[in-house]
Amino acid sequence: MTSNKEGVRTCLAVVLAAGEGKRMKSDLPKVLHRVAGRSMLGHALAAVTAAGADSVAVIVGPGRDDVAAEARACAPAAEVFVQEDRLGTAHAVLRARAALERGFDDVVVAFADTPLVLAQTFGGLRTELVEGAAVAALGFEAGDPTGYGRFLMEEGELAAIREHKDASEKEREIRICNAGLMALSGKSALGILDAIGNANAQGEYYLTDAVATARSQGLKTAAVIAPESEVMGVNDRIQLADAEAAMQRRLRADAMRDGVTMIDPATVHLWFDTKLGRDVVIEPGVFFGAGCEIGDGAIIKAWSHLEGAKVARGASVGPFARLRPGAVIGEQAKIGNFVEIKAADIGPGAAVSHLTYIGDASIGAKANIGAGTITCNYDGFSKFRTEIGAGAFIGSNSSLVAPVRIGAGAIVGSGSVITQDVEADALALGRGRQTDKPGWAKAFRERPENAGKSKK
Ligand code: UD1
Ligand code: CA
Repeated sequence: MTSNKEGVRTCLAVVLAAGEGKRMKSDLPKVLHRVAGRSMLGHALAAVTAAGADSVAVIVGPGRDDVAAEARACAPAAEVFVQEDRLGTAHAVLRARAALERGFDDVVVAFADTPLVLAQTFGGLRTELVEGAAVAALGFEAGDPTGYGRFLMEEGELAAIREHKDASEKEREIRICNAGLMALSGKSALGILDAIGNANAQGEYYLTDAVATARSQGLKTAAVIAPESEVMGVNDRIQLADAEAAMQRRLRADAMRDGVTMIDPATVHLWFDTKLGRDVVIEPGVFFGAGCEIGDGAIIKAWSHLEGAKVARGASVGPFARLRPGAVIGEQAKIGNFVEIKAADIGPGAAVSHLTYIGDASIGAKANIGAGTITCNYDGFSKFRTEIGAGAFIGSNSSLVAPVRIGAGAIVGSGSVITQDVEADALALGRGRQTDKPGWAKAFRERPENAGKSKK
């Protein structure tokens, strides 16, 4: 055995990603389509890595540099092997022969078009190997078994897997189907895989034949059953949407289990990496894109869109707020309706309550930004920063033309266009002075040319 020095069994994961995915009708390879923002290949790699794989081999189709690059981005140590001819799932696994020959205790095979499989399910398959099985296959009870391989059981043991196309009428009645995932004992894996032939309806080398082949070599096999929702595969865009829905349900349930309140969970969209603290409240219709972190007790009000944003403890965002990458909202700060924030730090307790754009800026603690304030951060060529000190008050409908600094405690009069730095505690007015002409309006109405005409 090749157990490592801690006595933990070593594991090679082989991830099959050589699918053509014709039914996706896409220029993008199937396994690069995303579920909760991460490619399906990325999900498969994350699961096998979390299941303790020491080495990962990814099998890609010929010329698929994009798939290879995604594999390396998600699992930098992954080795990529090319399957030149698509001769079946066993043939695909054997492309990783160089890795298999290095010798591992366990070999797990994952399909890159099956994004919902949990790490502990791979763990369950590996446990069967510890208990003496040479091959452990993952099955599920299919609502509609059409197209899937069927588990043929004999005296409680898995005797064979029969592909739908090769199955008899009687075998097609079996509802326990093959999910595709498998674990093989490392010391028998090559002996089993090399013995698999292609005498079947599709003329392919089926990985599923590892079961009958192992039995014919006098080795033990085992079946592990998972829920259908976890092993669903994606072959077209309808199944992609089904997988997305299942993933969203799982992410939301995990968040709620961890202490997040969702008033109408079905309307909340999470990214695979969304981090939500305890006692966060999410109102209906909220979208989280990549890289959001929401601190304990914060509230995200209805119809807000967040991406790459950090919201500290106790802050309030929305309704109808948009936080773009680099938005950092301090503790107890308040971001109100129709406010857009990009690459800006909003200090603790600051308020940006209505109809405002803050981009490339920092706003000090407890500053108040009036309705309609705009940081003019772009001159058509470059971006510039706006810095607003703690406790400053920006009057409504002001334009802050960056680069510009407003000192701590300063007040900017409503409607100002601020082009120069403002000292701390100063009042800045950057607008036309008001002039009043008493009686002018009445006299205007009473002019001979206007008299008797109605106002339009
Ligand atoms: C496979 C199983 C079937 C199971 C079903 C579950 C086999 C022979 N059949 O059928 O028992 O019920 O999954 O979804 O394993 N691939 C390659 N190279 C190949 C062929 C396939 O890399 O030459 C990859 C595909 O990209 C895919 C995976 O292996 O990720 C499964 O192949 P696919 O053709 O989708 O198999 P199914 O017909 O769905
Ligand atoms: Ca499939």
